[in-house]
Amino acid sequence: MINHLPKAELHIHIEGSLEPELMLTLAERNGLPAPFSSIQDAQAAYAFSDLQSFLDIYYKGAGVLITEQDFYDMTWAYLLRCRAEAVLHTEIFFDPQTHTERGIDISTVINGIDRALQDAKNQWGQSSHLILCFLRHLSSEAAMETLEQALPYKDKLIGVGLDSSEMGHPPSKFQAVFERAISEGLLTVAHAGEEGPADYIWQALDLLKVSRIDHGVRCIEDEQLMERLIAEQIPLTVCPQSNLKLCVVDDMSQHNILDLLNRGLLVTTNSDDPAYFGGYLNKNYDALVEHLNMTQEQAVQLARNSFTASFLSEQQKILFN
Ligand code: HPA
Ligand code: ZN
Repeated sequence: MINHLPKAELHIHIEGSLEPELMLTLAERNGLPAPFSSIQDAQAAYAFSDLQSFLDIYYKGAGVLITEQDFYDMTWAYLLRCRAEAVLHTEIFFDPQTHTERGIDISTVINGIDRALQDAKNQWGQSSHLILCFLRHLSSEAAMETLEQALPYKDKLIGVGLDSSEMGHPPSKFQAVFERAISEGLLTVAHAGEEGPADYIWQALDLLKVSRIDHGVRCIEDEQLMERLIAEQIPLTVCPQSNLKLCVVDDMSQHNILDLLNRGLLVTTNSDDPAYFGGYLNKNYDALVEHLNMTQEQAVQLARNSFTASFLSEQQKILFN
């Protein structure tokens, strides 16, 4: 039943959907050394101890993406998963700096991803939005430069976000960049409270004016913050399998997502980097049933929340719900 529930996905890094098989195909197509000698080797390397240990491998994997067609093929493979898993709407993150730092033009990245989104929309009505993420381990000047490069493609973007290494890179570092993005009519989100403290969630809300918090699971450490998130119904895009694989939780049975849901927070479930964390959106719902005894009512609530928390217009939300 849950696998057929109409859902939205609000936290998926498109580079994190690059499966080892396609990675090896693209390396060969581009005449690059393969990041791994086999699919088995890749999967064996996907044993992470924290966020940084994952990011090191994730950025290495993304190095096989060179041409517009590469970005198209990666995005297309994810969109086929959306169709198979009743993900009627998806809001996709991409990390342009991972590519522009290697000399790839931002137009190559955006046009490749966008062409796949348009084809899926035309072929089966796939609904989607695109969110540009800044890499927070890089400077705020580099983020501002990236924003400037992206502005000619503003019509293809719904908003901007913040990802990569959280500790030591607080949201406050990017306040000016987010102000500029907002002045251009873009919405804002940010990863906060995944590994970083609850204070980073406050900063994301107050300084970056975010509409949603990505992850946010550490909000539970701050009761005043919990009360604000509930009162203002600020969505959290929680990623259970990711939190398990990156050791944010020791065991899925200890995940707090259903506690947050039961307290009245607007929580959603998402896959984050499905090629690296062992599964797409339905796998995340399944894990909650298996390890947290999630009820059908709770699953339906998470699915409903995913549309409520989306950047669809109110009219579109009515059509989907
Ligand atoms: N956190 C931060 N940065 C990321 C993640 C994440 O979970 N996935 C891809 N980039
Ligand atoms: Zn993420």
